[in-house]
Amino acid sequence: MTISDYRAALVTGASAGIGEAVVADLCARGLTVHAVARRKDKLKALGVATGCTTHVMDVQDTTAMDDLFGSLGVDVLVNNAGVGRAIQSLPDANPADIDQTIGTNVTAALHAVRAVLGPMIKRGHGHIVNIGSVAGLYPLGSGVYGASKGAIHLMSTNLRLELAGTGIRVTEICPGRVRTEFYDAAIDDPDLRHRFKEAGITEITSEDVAASIAYALDAPWYVNVARVELQPIEQTFGGVNLDPMEGQGQ
Ligand SMILES: NC(=O)c1ccc[n+]([C@@H]2O[C@H](COP(=O)([O-])OP(=O)(O)OC[C@H]3O[C@@H](n4cnc5c(N)ncnc54)[C@H](OP(=O)(O)O)[C@@H]3O)[C@@H](O)[C@H]2O)c1
Repeated sequence: MTISDYRAALVTGASAGIGEAVVADLCARGLTVHAVARRKDKLKALGVATGCTTHVMDVQDTTAMDDLFGSLGVDVLVNNAGVGRAIQSLPDANPADIDQTIGTNVTAALHAVRAVLGPMIKRGHGHIVNIGSVAGLYPLGSGVYGASKGAIHLMSTNLRLELAGTGIRVTEICPGRVRTEFYDAAIDDPDLRHRFKEAGITEITSEDVAASIAYALDAPWYVNVARVELQPIEQTFGGVNLDPMEGQGQ
């Protein structure tokens, strides 16, 4: 399969940021795109701009989501809706924020995959794209958000095993810092939000992430782009920052 073999896609979290960019990209490539989010006005504008079909929905309403997603017959699911409530350490987390983050990032994502898979398995092709995070791969002092994206990581690796032989591909996209509304929605305190948002580095864009998804969708049918990590050149992970030449033993 390549992108031109896919007819219809479903993108959750489509009203802003990465999801919005993915909808625009896939519409421009000729796919029929179903865009899902809660904010009606933002979705309406996206529909006018791109020609996508819009669905106003809270993905935490898993019953409504199961019904709609199972009926659309899409070839591609971009499981993108996500929040960073309780993005600080677990001891500082508000209980309601824990539930919202796990409900949106994990529970809804699992339901979305289950709902679209039945028709994909019958057709013998399909592509699940899960938006994870570097926070699901490395410890960043963000126990709740990291746990939610760690779940996406292991959901993706297990799915590839469970779906072996079905013709369905599973791609996990793990971005680092992307400049979106993410921290505006995640953090209420203006000072803390400012500290999180203004990291002093050049962040990657939603369009960069959309391009990585297009790369995975456009691979030949026998290639599964399993995981893409993409992050700003100024962001990296690990506990020690040594002078790179130190101890090289010239
Ligand atoms: N920005 C980053 O640095 C970064 C890095 C790594 C991974 N990610 C991941 O990338 C994904 C997209 O985030 P973003 O950066 O593009 O953030 P964003 O600009 O805040 O967009 C989040 C999207 O998710 C939707 N959403 C949130 N809760 C929802 C719900 N209950 N039901 C339906 N839609 C919901 C929002 O729409 P409504 O509010 O209209 O519902 C919005 O369209 C998330 O999974 C996030 O964890 C982001």
